[in-house]
Amino acid sequence: MKSIKFDYSNSLLIKESELKKLSKQLVKLDNLVKTKRGAGAEFLGWYDLPINISSKEINQICAVAEEIRKNSDAFVCIGIGGSYLGAKAVIEAMCGVFNLLTHKPQIFFAGNNISGRYLSELLNILQSKKNIYVNVISKSGTTTEPAIAFRIVQNLIEKKYKKNSQKYIIATTDEKKGALRKMADTAGWRSFIIPEDVGGRFSVLTAVGLLPIAVAGIDIKKILKGASDMKKILDTAAPEKNIAMQYAAARYLLYSKYNKAIEILVNYNPELHYIAEWWKQLYGESEGKQGKALYPASCDFTTDLHSMGQWIQDGVRNIFETVLEIEKTNLDLKIPFAENDLDELNYIAGKQVDYVNSKAMQGTIEAHTDGNVPNLKISLPELNEYYLGQLLYFFERACAISGYLLEVNPFDQPGVEAYKKNMFRLLGKK
Ligand code: PA5
Repeated sequence: MKSIKFDYSNSLLIKESELKKLSKQLVKLDNLVKTKRGAGAEFLGWYDLPINISSKEINQICAVAEEIRKNSDAFVCIGIGGSYLGAKAVIEAMCGVFNLLTHKPQIFFAGNNISGRYLSELLNILQSKKNIYVNVISKSGTTTEPAIAFRIVQNLIEKKYKKNSQKYIIATTDEKKGALRKMADTAGWRSFIIPEDVGGRFSVLTAVGLLPIAVAGIDIKKILKGASDMKKILDTAAPEKNIAMQYAAARYLLYSKYNKAIEILVNYNPELHYIAEWWKQLYGESEGKQGKALYPASCDFTTDLHSMGQWIQDGVRNIFETVLEIEKTNLDLKIPFAENDLDELNYIAGKQVDYVNSKAMQGTIEAHTDGNVPNLKISLPELNEYYLGQLLYFFERACAISGYLLEVNPFDQPGVEAYKKNMFRLLGKK
């Protein structure tokens, strides 16, 4: 069985002996995850989610997704943070950036900002659509951003479908608590449950992520298979072979011993942009507490080599780079030959575009390590559902260990309340 790989051989600083020294602690911390005894234990439901999710629920998700795919030309996915990033990341990675423009149904994300222009433009587009389904996702059921967007889309749907509007609204929320649960029960909307012991940013493998992903036509069973295979690997692998422990330990050493305060997750494939956004939330919200933790940043290469490349090569040496590599891409084309060669590209005519991309990656890693930027690498054999499932679970598991190494509770987010308190006061909320 192939699996994703982790490589720290270009980290410049980390020695095998340092990782070995951490082994015992890593096993102990990972055990806290497995036995659900660590800080935030009440939110460790994601740990066995890929094997615990029932076939009944998977089949229900697939059936509703199929109905939406068959009957609609627009699907609106409303949610913020952990309630949309996982779905957005997987959908874009699998469908590709341009295919989404003509996808049927067209998929829209809303409720992840409070912009009047964004919502007005969305409403204009939705008004021209024949059939619209909305999936409103909120664990707490009280988050302002999705609540505003949903009220606007709900109005549209109720006006459009009148007494039949129930059919077109699907809520994903807590089983018992929150305004959204109350609304769904009162109106009789179909709903999916977010397990109580799974926090937002760890919820991509629940209906939160799986329903929108299935609506996009992506095989969620293969994603879950990848995730459960990764769980099996991580449950049994010794520390020196355990990629979640190795990644958590490497970033911990770079941060705490070598003063690298920023981790930049870089990709060379534009369809991975939102995987990095999902990852930023996972690590940022899980670890940024008590004045500690790496700042998780991201860059899309080679795009950002023409904007951030200078900073990375020559700026403050407090960064390291983690490259997300796809070993074998599945859609490619050749660079054509030009008779006059005015652009002087004939030296690579006949080569595949992704071959050039791989050389750009190799050259960049060389340049950045020469510039004293430690490099870590996570490689996916291919970009498909199975390896994405592995990747999501790997990042979640490593994040838990990494948070425990920092001695923080990786499963709460008390700091997120500060802006809300001020906003509610300024808005006069009672
Ligand atoms: O990880 C988290 O818990 C948060 O980022 C939430 O996902 C986000 O704030 C949205 O919350 P909710 O699903 O309750 O609307």
